[in-house]
Amino acid sequence: MRIAIDGPGGSGKSTISKILAKKLGLIYIDTGAMYRACAYVSLRFDLHGDALKEFINNAEIDFLQDDGTQRVSMLFQGSEYDLTEAIRTPQVSAKVSEVAADKRIREILTKKQKNLASRKNVIMDGRDIGTVVIPDAEVKIFLNASVDERSHRRYTELKEKYPDISYDEVKDDLMKRDETDIKRETAPLLKAEDAVEIDTTGLSVEEVVQEIMKTVKKKRAAGENI
Ligand code: DC
Repeated sequence: MRIAIDGPGGSGKSTISKILAKKLGLIYIDTGAMYRACAYVSLRFDLHGDALKEFINNAEIDFLQDDGTQRVSMLFQGSEYDLTEAIRTPQVSAKVSEVAADKRIREILTKKQKNLASRKNVIMDGRDIGTVVIPDAEVKIFLNASVDERSHRRYTELKEKYPDISYDEVKDDLMKRDETDIKRETAPLLKAEDAVEIDTTGLSVEEVVQEIMKTVKKKRAAGENI
């Protein structure tokens, strides 16, 4: 079974995907982490445009399940770099939408993602999974929540690591990213026509998981071999 989960930042995609992956025995692939890894490389090595494309084309992005947390690493010229923490900084968050709007980068990452999805038993989250990466996914979900709820979730997460960060800063960054992700020309953030939309505002994690499980069960009851 392949599950595609799309939605804006802070809508709960990664939290929900990790739980469902465990419950259903699927491999979780966080495609946002792949775009974040590209943004990190761009900032760290001052690489842009074709030079960044060249680097990413020759690198491998790997996911490793490590006791509940997912570690993200990049393999480049025989060396492996653990980027798990580095891709979550406010600097990378501020840069990532610009990198994700670059057609050349999207082309490479979409190809890598389609390849990963061909393993079949995956739950993949992002912005264009149901529309572009796995348009034939058996289950498609679009998560959403009010901008205030999403900002509060992100703020609570970030506050632990960056005590000086302000709520307004987090909300501002989230809104800017929403706008770039929705307006970009290639593979914008969009609900697939056949996706089930869930507004997670005010819902607990368990309630959202149950809602998605209903869709999975419905498909199974309808005789779909998933
Ligand atoms: O889910 P996230 O916040 O970690 O995603 C980081 C950025 O990557 C976000 O601004 C949108 C972009 N992204 C994308 O364009 N396509 C995807 N499939 C996943 C993420």
